[in-house]
Amino acid sequence: MFLFLLTRCYISLPRKPLPPGPKPLPYIGSIIAMLRNKPTFRWIHRMMDEMNTKILCIRLGNVHVIAVSDPKIACEFLKDKDGIFSSRPDCMSAYLTSGGYLTTVLVPMSDHWKKMRKTLAMEILSVAKHKWLQNKRQQESDNLLRYIYNRCHINIAATNGVVNVRTVVEHYSSSVIRNIIFGSRYFGKGNADGGPGEEEIEHVGALLTILNYLYAFSVTDYFPWLRWITDLDGHEKIMRDAIRTAKKHQDYLVDERIQQWKDGIRTKEEDLLDVFINIQNTRLTVDHIKSQILELMLATFDNPSNAIEWAMAEMINQPRIFDKAIQELDYVVGKDRLVEESDIPNLNYLTACVKEAFRLHPVAPFNLPHVSIEETTIAGYFIPKGSHVILSRIGLGRNPDIWDDPLTFNPDRHMNGNNEVVLTDHNLHMLSFSTGRRGCPGVLLGSTITIMLLARLVQGFTWELPIKESHIDLKENFQSLAKAKPLKALARPRLQHHLYIPRY
Ligand code: HEM
Repeated sequence: MFLFLLTRCYISLPRKPLPPGPKPLPYIGSIIAMLRNKPTFRWIHRMMDEMNTKILCIRLGNVHVIAVSDPKIACEFLKDKDGIFSSRPDCMSAYLTSGGYLTTVLVPMSDHWKKMRKTLAMEILSVAKHKWLQNKRQQESDNLLRYIYNRCHINIAATNGVVNVRTVVEHYSSSVIRNIIFGSRYFGKGNADGGPGEEEIEHVGALLTILNYLYAFSVTDYFPWLRWITDLDGHEKIMRDAIRTAKKHQDYLVDERIQQWKDGIRTKEEDLLDVFINIQNTRLTVDHIKSQILELMLATFDNPSNAIEWAMAEMINQPRIFDKAIQELDYVVGKDRLVEESDIPNLNYLTACVKEAFRLHPVAPFNLPHVSIEETTIAGYFIPKGSHVILSRIGLGRNPDIWDDPLTFNPDRHMNGNNEVVLTDHNLHMLSFSTGRRGCPGVLLGSTITIMLLARLVQGFTWELPIKESHIDLKENFQSLAKAKPLKALARPRLQHHLYIPRY
């Protein structure tokens, strides 16, 4: 009877094929090809082009890695079958960064993830908290102008007016999150011109390293037992060092603050660290708070700075677009006051510029990996349990079937009459904040930070090519999607001088 049922089952449910992909070797799969073809993300995209497929399966060890560059298939994963695909892989980089899965973003599906996600949504990233923290974000938007003003106007002899836009945008996005969490821009003495001090430079460097090595196709992700023998590709040491460096600047502040609450020196919540500490008693330990803070720093830091460096480079090369953004700002805000967060809903073209930067120049080639908790079928292909699904941010955003002239920076493609332009895209024609139960809960904060950054840069200064340069070189770094060379441009104040002096 059993054999009969089994045979019937087998006959009536023929297993679908796996998605196309390279032929794997027994046991190791395509790991040798992966190691020979660094960087891995370019190898994966090359194979998708060569095989002319929008869904690819590569077996690495016994893990099926499924890459996707088609919005309909992406929606099948993250919308139709979200329940099956909302876990994350268990791997070295995520384990170390999250302090052993104490956090939210990097944590496999579990009751702990549900608890942390709810805590973030209700207590840390709610609309009410966003309003409460507005003052701190404004301090950083004002400091942004002051810092650039000091670089290009006050210190003109040293700089010739040339500003390193990468330094500026990285300092801004890391300062905003430092200020709303710790209530301070600086870990140490800082810098008198409003720029980063040595502690902030070291901290940002560590964050960048962690982000570069997170889910970076380390060999031990696919052969976990190897971790106990060797750090084959050296990723583990790099990760451990960078995490130690980042935490060196943050963790003692958490300890000090907890002591202040215990001693009664602090009695009123003034920033997100206070909020975390006051939910600590019921739900979080000190280690949870420390690890979650590092993760929020990482979640906030890279998308805004990367997008706006690229947006500025593209816009300087296309003065028509830059002028249109200036005209909108002059019309909506004028030149007698600074652009504020409350202006954002009226800045549709500027928002479209940000959205276009997210589409064409995402900070990472793939979305964070999702893992299937059971086998299933997607787009007619068999997807085994435990597969790592990586949606290609470049494959979606630069997909010629979806976007006309996809490699051209053209914000107008996002304009839709008078309808408000938003940075989210739940149809996954591009991947900004993703969607589904693992979608980003920081949309409001992330959008505000990114749009304000571009708005202040464009309103506050004229930006020109450095002398002797005919255009900005838009080459991508081969190892990542960052601009190969940091953007440097000539800035000149375009507002009345008193507006560059911070109000706080
Ligand atoms: C422009 C800025 C930002 C962009 C483009 C962005 C984008 C993303 C993306 C693509 C994901 C992965 C979604 C998925 O797995 O499908 C994500 C997850 C997440 N983001 Fe953001 N994010 C931004 C800012 C922020 C900020 C400011 C915060 C909070 C301070 C935040 C918190 C999170 C968290 C907690 C998750 C994990 C969700 C989960 O796994 O349950 N993000 N974000």
